[in-house]
Amino acid sequence: MAKDDNGGKDLTAADSSDVVHVDESPGIAVVARDALANPGLPPHRPRITDLSPKAERHAERTVYTLFYLSIVGSVFAIAAYMVFPIVPDDPSSVRLNTLFIGLGLTLALLAIGIGAVHWGKALMSDHEGVDERHPVRGSEETRARAVEIFAEANEESGFGRRTLIRNSLIGALVAFPLPAVVLFRGLGPQDENPVELLSHTMWKKGTRLAIDPTGLPIKASDVTLGSAFQVIPEGLMDIEHGRLEEKAKAAVLLMRLKPEDLHELPDRKDWSYDGIVAYSKICTHVGCPVALYEQQTHNLLCPCHQSQFDVTNHCEVIFGPAARPLPQLPIAVDAEGYLIARSDFTEPVGPSFWERH
Ligand code: FES
Repeated sequence: MAKDDNGGKDLTAADSSDVVHVDESPGIAVVARDALANPGLPPHRPRITDLSPKAERHAERTVYTLFYLSIVGSVFAIAAYMVFPIVPDDPSSVRLNTLFIGLGLTLALLAIGIGAVHWGKALMSDHEGVDERHPVRGSEETRARAVEIFAEANEESGFGRRTLIRNSLIGALVAFPLPAVVLFRGLGPQDENPVELLSHTMWKKGTRLAIDPTGLPIKASDVTLGSAFQVIPEGLMDIEHGRLEEKAKAAVLLMRLKPEDLHELPDRKDWSYDGIVAYSKICTHVGCPVALYEQQTHNLLCPCHQSQFDVTNHCEVIFGPAARPLPQLPIAVDAEGYLIARSDFTEPVGPSFWERH
């Protein structure tokens, strides 16, 4: 127990209402404690709207003006939906539609939010109240009983005594989450270099395109105008278990458009056949299957995050988070009229968040 020289005051058992003073006289460190009063709440300060009816009316006007502004924003968003409709084959219409609807909704939400905050701060009652918090610490009796229960449980279960059981149980609990680490690892690419893994698929020069899931090769004459097929390399179905990733990588969508609707890149003029084009089915965002083909607009839609690809323009991205076009598979027909690949894809398929060089 620490005591000072001037009166033997107990320094460690000071009550909570003490405050510390230090006497800096040479050679003596004197510490005393005085009352530290609970300062309580600061005095209530009325706002200008409490004192001035004019300011109050002004605040009221501001609040209802903001709420009316919110209504204007909502109406604007509805009007924008009608005035700037999404026109098929016109990507700029998508931008205008999104922009103006977004502006209207932003105004509507911001005005409601600011109006509500201003209402609360300027006009609603602002009297301070004190809500006493009940003590968190249990009573001595409760705490003693809890210790007793733990001791009893320890005794009855033998947890402390039977060390082999205890230690093996701790080991089992530590080991139990480990399989999850392995399972999550299995979700990632198994190859050291993911770009390398996605750069090569089963497609090669001369491989016939076969309908998924029958595996039957498909002729150019089977692909009618406006139709779409999911195709895989012929022979893929014969591959033994364990090559499922090959099927996933090689999945291709085949569509036929009017040749004059295709705006092909100069170096890809011979990658299509009479309006038939083939593109990887794996979305370049995070790899979902691009599953929806809109025949009227010639757009491919990925259902995961709504990326849209324009088939007439080498599958460039016209909406959504995907960052690059779907890779195109160069195709031709063989002597029997079956569709064949001219080569593998010329770029990695699938997600584009991998580092590419
Ligand atoms: S995976 Fe296709 S948009 Fe995200």
